[in-house]
Amino acid sequence: MNRLAVQGKDYIHDPLYSRVKGVIPEIEWSVFAPKINEINRIKRDMNAVILGHNYMTPEIYHCVSDIVGDSLALAKHAANTKADIIVMAGVHFMAETAKLINPEKKVLIPDLKAGCSLAESITGKDVQLIKEKYPDTPVVTYVNTSADVKAESDICCTSGNAKEIIESLGVKRVIMLPDEYLAQNIAKETDVEVVTWAGKCEVHEKFTPEDIRNFRLNHPGVVVLAHPECSPEVIDEADFSGSTAGMSNFVGENMPQKVVLVTECSMSDNVSAQYPSLDFVKPCNLCPHMKRITLDNILNSLINLEHEVTIDSKIEARARLSVDRMLNGWKPLN
Ligand code: 13P
Ligand code: SF4
Repeated sequence: MNRLAVQGKDYIHDPLYSRVKGVIPEIEWSVFAPKINEINRIKRDMNAVILGHNYMTPEIYHCVSDIVGDSLALAKHAANTKADIIVMAGVHFMAETAKLINPEKKVLIPDLKAGCSLAESITGKDVQLIKEKYPDTPVVTYVNTSADVKAESDICCTSGNAKEIIESLGVKRVIMLPDEYLAQNIAKETDVEVVTWAGKCEVHEKFTPEDIRNFRLNHPGVVVLAHPECSPEVIDEADFSGSTAGMSNFVGENMPQKVVLVTECSMSDNVSAQYPSLDFVKPCNLCPHMKRITLDNILNSLINLEHEVTIDSKIEARARLSVDRMLNGWKPLN
């Protein structure tokens, strides 16, 4: 059998393959292509939209996602979509955020176990106790949290807007939860005092300043971009720090000939597929939660309408308010 023609179909000349051919070998593509075609067909028939985070693998990111981006972009698009069904190709807190913004829509997550070490580091009860310790101090909560935690918070933020959100409150001190490193990195950029919590991203905490020095030693001239969930010591060694979208935009705007993205593995594959002329050094720290999302479970999600994300009605309104304040500005609780 001609390896390019599986089941009598010439998948290799599928225009979608040209988007990923730098990062997906032909043999793998011939397995992915029928599933991709099926997902895209069902999605259109059902008026569904797939929101794909920057950490999805390239076949999901480039070939079935309708909207791609960082947590902030996905939340904004979730707020504007006309689709009846939203499939979150990302982790659970992202699907919950989409559901909070779209209570009337069906929001699906292909694998309910796609969690996040930051979201797991804190509960709503913890937030209540911190508020008792620091009365009259607003709680700014990273979107990487459960709806329960958002409900106890005053406003949400992402790594893409954290400084702006904190400074918009016009206060001298905020509590910023749960990512200690993100909070410390933002504290260095603002005069607002930032009270932190000890949450960590299990992917970004693995990078060390020594890793960065070694990238520079082994790849002279490399430009180092790092996610602000890395430690302040790592960020100090980097040339630029920004959200996943911030890093991707930096590459597009500056076209560094040799670049390393100090973040989750798939991000480099996705950006390098977009800019094949650039040389990407690819350190690999996988997010096991993001990697739970596959073409197979996206297909299952569409066919069986699984797994529907629901929010406890007791916390829903307060959690929504925190996300809404992030997207649309401060509003009093009424
Ligand atoms: P971004 O908002 O930068 O996409 O980050 C989300 C995330 O989970 C990073 O680990
Ligand atoms: Fe959570 Fe880190 Fe995975 Fe992002 S990369 S989902 S912050 S564990």
